[in-house]
Amino acid sequence: MNESAIETARPYVAALVDELTAAGAIRTPAWAEAFAAVPRHTFVPRWYEQETNDKGITVWRMENALREGRLARVYRDTTLVTALDPESAEQVDKSAWTGIPTSSSTLPSLMAGMLEDLAVEDGNRVLEIGTGTGYNAALLCARLGEQCVYSVDVDADLVEAAQRRLSCIGYEPQLAPADGRKGYPARDQFDRVIATCSVPNIPAPWIEQTRPGGAIVADVALGIEGGLVRLTVDAKQRAQGQFTATSGRFMAARGDAQTYPRRERAPYAAEAGTRPTTVTAGDIRGHYPFRLLLAFHLPGAELVYHSDGATGTMSLQLQHSDGSWARVPLAGDRVETVTYGGTSEFWEQVEEAWKWWNDAGRPAQDRFGYAREPDGHASVWHIPDGRRWNIGAQ
Ligand SMILES: C[S@@+](CC[C@H](N)C(=O)[O-])C[C@H]1O[C@@H](n2cnc3c(N)ncnc32)[C@H](O)[C@@H]1O
Repeated sequence: MNESAIETARPYVAALVDELTAAGAIRTPAWAEAFAAVPRHTFVPRWYEQETNDKGITVWRMENALREGRLARVYRDTTLVTALDPESAEQVDKSAWTGIPTSSSTLPSLMAGMLEDLAVEDGNRVLEIGTGTGYNAALLCARLGEQCVYSVDVDADLVEAAQRRLSCIGYEPQLAPADGRKGYPARDQFDRVIATCSVPNIPAPWIEQTRPGGAIVADVALGIEGGLVRLTVDAKQRAQGQFTATSGRFMAARGDAQTYPRRERAPYAAEAGTRPTTVTAGDIRGHYPFRLLLAFHLPGAELVYHSDGATGTMSLQLQHSDGSWARVPLAGDRVETVTYGGTSEFWEQVEEAWKWWNDAGRPAQDRFGYAREPDGHASVWHIPDGRRWNIGAQ
């Protein structure tokens, strides 16, 4: 291992380990040791910080870890954007771009929480979907040994860079450029699968490539909201478990390094009415588990910010793929009026979900189970009373 890279960063690495341990993200000595062994700046030598430039435009400004005073910034508990979609990225000055992020080094506390939730044992073989910078693959190598670590990313350039950086600190795990939704290209079986890009449903190849009794930790994106699940795969290829107490979201898996997934939606229905409501924008924005519950109630719907073209008024808008929509004003977050287009039943389901969630004592996300059947259908349920929602095979 290149000792000098670790030496330079040692105080920062140690401070990050302490911070993640104090926050309860690192929960075991084995993961504390792994985090202490891997210098994050080796994997994130450059990244993009979001800022509003002097023309009032939100841009991504490139930062370099080796510039004076910058090293400590890599060791903050922060997500660092490391790649922008070349199709949409436009350079606006010598170090800033606009564009959609396509890769990042995940928030370290989220990574630590997921790795702890993965509950690996010595000798376990792990497949990671979404190599990105290679930092998480390095942590897995430090914990399990490089011979146990496999990782894929849809972007071949990222895989090549990650391979170089891993090699720089002495790790040679198996990496492959591939659409990770199809699993690892060489057919294989793993004890654990961890995904750092989101999927609408657990892909069948992940289940086929997990040995019975093995586990998957991944972010399922259910439209309005999504969350991390930890599932155990059984001999009949059923994956069952629950949403984890660790919460966090990931960028969506894409089929091609250059294409971004977009949902198909019918044209918006015409405005049909306005009425008083019991649910405000603040209720939706302020409660992650409630948004998750809304996603169970309304599979296929999305939550977006809407700006009225004429007045500039901002609202929180729920919209369905059939063109129905309903929006509540953002102003103050507490305005009790909903405006809707298409069917009014859409918002009635939101009010029903709000009532149920409050009556049930506002359960957190880890009070909900998740199962994916061998035929691809998924369901979720409230663990204490078994109330179930079928969320289809999205
Ligand atoms: C949040 S980043 C991963 C962070 C990474 N684990 C790390 O430690 O730096 C998400 C990654 O998922 C990758 N990705 C997106 N779609 C994918 C797919 N279908 N298969 C594999 N990787 C994919 C992106 O290219 C991106 O690098």
